[in-house]
Amino acid sequence: MSLLLKNCRLCIKDKVFVKNILIRKGKIAKITGKEPKADKVIDARNNFVLPGLIDAHVHFREPGLTHKEDFLTGSMAAAKGGVTTILDMPNTLPPTITIAALEEKRKLAAKSIVNYGFHFGATQDNLEDIRKAKNIAAVKLYMDYTTGDLKVSDFEVIKDILKTSKLTVIHAEDGSVKNVVDILTKNKIKNRVHFAHVSSQKELNYAKQNKIKNQVTVEVTPHHLFMNQNDIQTLGAFAEMKPRLKTEHDQKALWLGIKNETVDIIASDHAPHLKEEKEQANYPFGIPGVETTLPLLLDAFNKNIITLPQITKLCCENPAKIFRIKNKGFLKEGCDADLVIVDLYKRQAVRNDDLLTKCKWSPYDGKILKGWAVMTIVNGNVVYDNEELLDLKAKEVQYGR
Ligand code: DOR
Ligand code: ZN
Repeated sequence: MSLLLKNCRLCIKDKVFVKNILIRKGKIAKITGKEPKADKVIDARNNFVLPGLIDAHVHFREPGLTHKEDFLTGSMAAAKGGVTTILDMPNTLPPTITIAALEEKRKLAAKSIVNYGFHFGATQDNLEDIRKAKNIAAVKLYMDYTTGDLKVSDFEVIKDILKTSKLTVIHAEDGSVKNVVDILTKNKIKNRVHFAHVSSQKELNYAKQNKIKNQVTVEVTPHHLFMNQNDIQTLGAFAEMKPRLKTEHDQKALWLGIKNETVDIIASDHAPHLKEEKEQANYPFGIPGVETTLPLLLDAFNKNIITLPQITKLCCENPAKIFRIKNKGFLKEGCDADLVIVDLYKRQAVRNDDLLTKCKWSPYDGKILKGWAVMTIVNGNVVYDNEELLDLKAKEVQYGR
């Protein structure tokens, strides 16, 4: 099966070209000005085509919490949002902290319509499992609060985890950034760490001072970029997540971090909870986001706040590089045909009823955004086409180490 995507507007080295993309056997075979023959032709109508987004931080809740989300609903939401690969977090029930739990999750994820990978959870005493875990994106270390009880607070254990794992994702909150950097420096550990959802100027500055030779990388979320603590007043629990929304000053600092490249990636931290759960007095923390990341960013592009090459770097290229995901993140011949066609002029409101996430709400409900994904292609298959979804199964990603 071959597919020709005609009239694709592409950014190549910051210049814009209109090209045709030939897809063969799930891969980008040619990016060309010519019109090679193909079994099927799709006209992108001069819309921009970007590499599919790689969302390195989602909670798809399977197994154990599937009333909130599962790999099918989560991946449908992803496809609608132009996300073609997700990396799932380990705080499920049971948590992904043993080889058996990882293998079980692998089976469950087979229903996903976007490509997927897994972060493996660290605990006080699972170093052996960490060593044995195969084909994982990274080891996730929570030093603070989380949904579930994956908390490691003993610095000796943390040191051993950082020494063992080639790449550790740290739940950045409170003093974690400083504590981890101190442990790395004191013990001359050379393995990499990635700080998830950095939310304050203080943490960002600290990470920046220690950004030595790519050993330390920084992730921010759309909610910390597009909201601040004033939104908690209007939205209450529906704007509550960990780490919490910060001041306008912190929000500005994150945008500055994008400009000066202190921030390496944007990931949604898609953490759905049901409306009913959020309405309880002791509501859980977390908000959905996998489906709104790209429209929020395209809307910001339309307001001259961010450029398309920046979006591509932050959401596609850098996640592929940091997590060493093979053949993804770039529109290049030989790479997997994971791509998204975006209509930069499409104006549409985010509406709870339209969402595909099982939780069916978003803090952005009612917000009109300009710029939306109109078609998403995963491994050469169209899985999302103008509000229509196709249930075609995707694959687990592979990593080059
Ligand atoms: O707000 C959050 N929700 N922060 C986390 O670290 C976990 C997440 C969840 O799983 O709900
Ligand atoms: Zn998270």
